[in-house]
Amino acid sequence: MYRTHTCGELRLKDVGSEVTLAGWVQTVRKFGSITFIDLRDRYGITQLLFGEDLNEQLEAAPLGREFVLQASGTVIERSNKNLQLPTGEVEIRISSFSVLNKSAIPPFTIQDDTDGGDDLRMRYRYLDLRRGAVKRNIELRYAVNRATREYLHQNGFMDIETPFLIKSTPEGARDFVVPSRMNPGEFYALPQSPQTFKQLLMVSGYDRYYQIVKCFRDEDLRADRQPEFTQIDCEMAFVEQDDILNMFEGLIKFIFKQVKGIDYTDAVERMTWEDVMFHYGIDKPDIRFGMKVANLKIPATVFDEKQAAVAASPIAGSTGFGVFDNAETVVAIAVPGAAEYTRKQLDELTDWVKRPQIGMQGLVNIKYNSDGSLKSSVDKFFTEAALQEIAKYVNAKPGDLILVLAGAEERTRKAIAELRLELGERLGLRKKDEFRLLWVLDFPLFEYAEEENRWVARHHPFTSPKPSQIETMIGNDPVIENAAEYLKHPYANIKANAYDMVLNGNEIGGGSIRIFQRELQEKMFAALGMTQEEAQHKFGFLLGAFEYGAPPHGGIAFGFDRLCAILGGSESIRDFIAFPKNNSGRDVMLDAPAGIDQKQLDELNIKLAL
Ligand code: AMO
Repeated sequence: MYRTHTCGELRLKDVGSEVTLAGWVQTVRKFGSITFIDLRDRYGITQLLFGEDLNEQLEAAPLGREFVLQASGTVIERSNKNLQLPTGEVEIRISSFSVLNKSAIPPFTIQDDTDGGDDLRMRYRYLDLRRGAVKRNIELRYAVNRATREYLHQNGFMDIETPFLIKSTPEGARDFVVPSRMNPGEFYALPQSPQTFKQLLMVSGYDRYYQIVKCFRDEDLRADRQPEFTQIDCEMAFVEQDDILNMFEGLIKFIFKQVKGIDYTDAVERMTWEDVMFHYGIDKPDIRFGMKVANLKIPATVFDEKQAAVAASPIAGSTGFGVFDNAETVVAIAVPGAAEYTRKQLDELTDWVKRPQIGMQGLVNIKYNSDGSLKSSVDKFFTEAALQEIAKYVNAKPGDLILVLAGAEERTRKAIAELRLELGERLGLRKKDEFRLLWVLDFPLFEYAEEENRWVARHHPFTSPKPSQIETMIGNDPVIENAAEYLKHPYANIKANAYDMVLNGNEIGGGSIRIFQRELQEKMFAALGMTQEEAQHKFGFLLGAFEYGAPPHGGIAFGFDRLCAILGGSESIRDFIAFPKNNSGRDVMLDAPAGIDQKQLDELNIKLAL
């Protein structure tokens, strides 16, 4: 037997017991003739005490960091207790030990605050995974996995595996492809998600399906994206949108409770896509804090229902200030308590919005001083009374700083959203231990692809339009005659039965009610510019299945890695994946991707053009 206990287990009540532990040497400390060793395993750290009697043996074969050690002895009470450690009230007086394996000197220290840079840690990920900080992330991931399975099982969902070697499933990214040796010149694609399979399972009658499943997308990587990532993928039949929203906010609340001990009793807020874009400038707003966007001016082609309200804005007419008068969109936020910002701070904010990533020409500021007076960077053009009007419209209070951006609709809206998040961060309003969920509903069905002058599916091609807008879709030709006026095309206004779940400003899941009739699905493919032959070639299996009694259905998929990262208080999903890839999609430990030898290429009938 290698061990009687783990390194995280022994307490005062065990004093007097004879035990054997096995683990890795974290530190070796010598005090005169006594040696202390911290022994670490997955469960914790226990202090071992080597007395004088073992010195000879220790000197003959010195122990180093990360050696694998087995040691036996008696549990004793520590005179110098370490209450930070769960085992810190005891230590083991060692009577015998053996080195199970030596270790080379590790390339970085294996402790929470390591001196290892990202690249080094990834190259030696197996060592990085020994660190408590990483281990806690992996444990959290497993806890989320368990809670997910428990909830879905309780609710009658079945975990059904779907294949990885498939034909392309369009989810908006490029496919990873795999050559087929047995079918020369042909390729499988790795699934971007199990989307079509889960829909086929609905046709087959498995009306509650789930899978915690790998998805593969060849897209540009960011902190919250990996080329292979994991989804909690779910589908249900005989449901309406509300059934899905209720079921899955239940899932996330269950995970909160099981994993974080949080009782999320509030109903999850629901807002339409139009509302979030209008009030936050982004489709995944962080609603932990206010600072909502005030719309002082918008183009006539967007936000139909808001036009009247914005027409009453104090700058709706001509103001004499060219930047506002010539802009398509003018938006503002009132930053609480920031009227005190210095000139230097304001200049820095202006530089911040001028960075290429934000791309604005400038930033107008209006200080609404605590004494009620107003002072702005545009005093030349606006009287104090006019500024007062703006402050009122923007809902600012004395002490606030009003920041105004003006420019083209899309860019300006995005910029004010970024500015809001940045100031939320700076003011400490984005608290790591606070969790706010939001459903964003009624996304547009289509998105305009400028380069190709055509429509693409905003979510994916299997998403159904709002029932009341099916006629608009069927009754209109998708062709866009005048690219400059694509917003006037009837398709621009069709909304989908699609929803995203947003947590603290991150899209953690998305789904939709699906099209389940062949005719409408064919119309959708046509709307996306596919010929009938193409649609048949790519999706004949699905169109065929829809002829054999497809039930109404819908579903959702959550980004499992993202959910774990947010629950763990991190920005980066890599920290929550045992063996992640770097930002260039490389596994630096394996050194993959890599070339393959000529023999393999020949077998696959592949000639490289490099
Ligand atoms: P979608 O493409 O919105 O939907 O993906 C669902 C969720 O997966 C996460 N996600 C990612 N996480 C890490 N790295 C990536 N590269 C990545 N891409 C997406 C996001 C996202 O919300 N089949 C549909 C779901 C459905 O309609 O049921 C789908 O895949 O958190």
